[in-house]
Amino acid sequence: MTVVITIDGPSGAGKGTVCQLVARKLGYHLLDSGALYRLTALAAEKQGVDFEDIEALASVAAQLDVVFKPADAGVVVELCGEDVTRAIRQEHVGMNASKVAAIQPVRDALLQRQRDFAQAPGLVADGRDMGTTVFPAAPVKVFLTASAQERARRRVLQLQQAGQSADFDQILSDIEARDRQDTERASSPLKPAEDAVLLDSTELTIEQVQDRVLELAASV
Ligand code: DC
Repeated sequence: MTVVITIDGPSGAGKGTVCQLVARKLGYHLLDSGALYRLTALAAEKQGVDFEDIEALASVAAQLDVVFKPADAGVVVELCGEDVTRAIRQEHVGMNASKVAAIQPVRDALLQRQRDFAQAPGLVADGRDMGTTVFPAAPVKVFLTASAQERARRRVLQLQQAGQSADFDQILSDIEARDRQDTERASSPLKPAEDAVLLDSTELTIEQVQDRVLELAASV
């Protein structure tokens, strides 16, 4: 049996780190579905595709030549053989990813690719619609949130630790804009599955969130 654990929620709630930790602890595969939308945005930018051209964007998504390589410090992401692990994390790529993610034909083009990640012994799937659309039958579903202020604070810290400058107000307003775009879109909007466990990480450490998810996983 392949166990699927879905962790959905807004950006900056700690999903990425928690998913990596849980996947490592359980020896499960990991799906970073946001990376697929970021890769679609980056590939479209590289190919000079118009971000209003829905058909062209869907075709970029369908033809993504991408490899996820597990490495000591996380996962290395390659697009057409080029290491784009850092490039896909740029702010403008995130904004473009949010735009392409609102397009249903793009989501359709990425659906099967995401489901193919579910392989024995299990999968931890990180995203916005893992529990609602991609893996509706998953036995463990978590919806992880944190206040926008706390998510902005974490992002500033992350950027500062990477030696980059960070403006709190700008980051907070970007986070709020992205939340609106992700929750108000018609296609697979960001919302908890009916059977998801809600976890607010505002006052929790990553370890506490990880332990809660492991407890849920142990109960299936
Ligand atoms: O999690 P992230 O920030 O890397 O995701 C990038 C964008 O992709 C984000 O704006 C929302 C979108 N996304 C989505 O619509 N569905 C998913 N399953 C994952 C991400």
